[in-house]
Amino acid sequence: GSTESPGLELAEPFLLEWLASVGLDVEYVRAEGNTLYYRDADGREVPVVDYAGGYGSLMLGHNNPEIIALAKSLLDGGVPVHAQFSRHPYANQVAAALNTILQRELGTTDAYSAIFANTGAEAVEAAIKHAELDRRMRMDELAAPIAEHLEAARAALLGGEASLSGEALGALGFSATERVDLAAFEDLAAEIVRRNEAVRQRPPVFLSLEGSFHGKLMGSVQLTHNEGYRAPFSALAAQARFIPRDRPEAIKEAVEAERAELFDVVVEGDTIAVVRREAPVICAFVLEPIQGEGGINVITREFAAEVQRVTAEIDCPVVIDEVQSGMGRSGAFLASTLVGLRGDYYALAKSLGGGVAKSSVMLVRRDRYRKEFELVHSSTFAKDAFSCFVALKVLELMEAEDGRVYRLAAERGQALRTMFESVRADFPEIVADIRGEGLMLGFEFQDQSEAASAAIRDNAGFFGYVAAGYLLREHRIRTFPTASAVHTLRFEPSVYLSDAEIAQLEAGLRDVCGILRAQDGERLVGA
Ligand code: F0G
Repeated sequence: GSTESPGLELAEPFLLEWLASVGLDVEYVRAEGNTLYYRDADGREVPVVDYAGGYGSLMLGHNNPEIIALAKSLLDGGVPVHAQFSRHPYANQVAAALNTILQRELGTTDAYSAIFANTGAEAVEAAIKHAELDRRMRMDELAAPIAEHLEAARAALLGGEASLSGEALGALGFSATERVDLAAFEDLAAEIVRRNEAVRQRPPVFLSLEGSFHGKLMGSVQLTHNEGYRAPFSALAAQARFIPRDRPEAIKEAVEAERAELFDVVVEGDTIAVVRREAPVICAFVLEPIQGEGGINVITREFAAEVQRVTAEIDCPVVIDEVQSGMGRSGAFLASTLVGLRGDYYALAKSLGGGVAKSSVMLVRRDRYRKEFELVHSSTFAKDAFSCFVALKVLELMEAEDGRVYRLAAERGQALRTMFESVRADFPEIVADIRGEGLMLGFEFQDQSEAASAAIRDNAGFFGYVAAGYLLREHRIRTFPTASAVHTLRFEPSVYLSDAEIAQLEAGLRDVCGILRAQDGERLVGA
């Protein structure tokens, strides 16, 4: 490499060692379009086709010329990058541009308010925090009148205008016999207050999906399914229930297991009756329409409809994490629109930064929006002029020519997928599955833990990484599996993917499939 560091490795040396063990410890020195370059021993640049695409943050490629030109002009012009606590018309412009796109794709006139952040996990956490603020406020709005209702019922009882029904006492577990006096009412009122308080004090519950990935910060990692990431930190934040994607009926089951009620009283004619009200204990249903880190799993239309139905029933907001699937990658701006899923919240990041800025945004539908959130959530770096102007440029490029970028994502994705299918047709016993939409595709190999070759079998626990190392070494292809789906390689190139780049990948995949068919483990591992 060009910047070999002397002495101690201090920036994640363990990870580097691990990358080296599978031949992925390459230093890239330049990038453009779908190409990353490293230098060989003679100092010559070696091009690598980048299918990892910054894990999906490069819809418009590395160093897109139009974005670079804008970035340069912003910096040359002395853009006030950090001007916190002032007017940010550019942030409003980004929000407006996003609203135009969302309204078109969702076929709605509903507006979405925008809270800006810096990373995907941060946008998810902003959505979680907002949903929790809203949940607590709704809980308070529900609970406050209950105290008044109890007071009114007490007054009616004392005034002899109403009496306590045995049914009301029974609802709270009291025996109804001979207990319809004031003391009985006070017992009932105390029990209502006690039970309601217990429901109010419960920690919020989140619903998420098996295979989900929402980030690695304290809140978002608890919504992330992979136990290795999540379990060590479970004491730090609210917990989620993980629902299997192939069992839509499990959504209702999870809600039934978690839901709770607040008790209230009403004076109906001359009777004091107890009524139950749905308590907002489930804070949000958080999901990716196409799971990325989980191995490219697309949720079905049927599953999406059930999410919508069940959450509507209990007025639970749906947070759609489009951090990886959004920004046009699926062929639509929002992948969720492809399965008819509609969110109360959306999280966007990655390509919003155009490959040069770090920015993200959380969108929340106006009828859920709590203005109080603006006073309790912020970041030094969020909503800055540089990243907002870059985001505007990204959206302008995506929307240009009546959405040419979305059409390209669909068309190039189809070309890539057609190639995958042809490889699969020739290696049916090697290729397990091909999944995804547009330029968010997964190519799954059969599990190799029972492979005949010891070199392959022994590496089955991180098979995809070994395959990735081989593709890089022998074919100058950059792709990865994920820690949560080690037999699935993930492909998220830019919309400028060429037929030649697809052909280069095809040669690599056919080579790997041939090696697996021949069980030539030594060659794959590079021993
Ligand atoms: N949500 C989704 C759906 C993601 O894919 C990611 C990151 C995040 C949130 C967190 O975003 O890294 O900017 O904080 N996914 C990468 C991956 C890391 O491997 O798929 P972040």
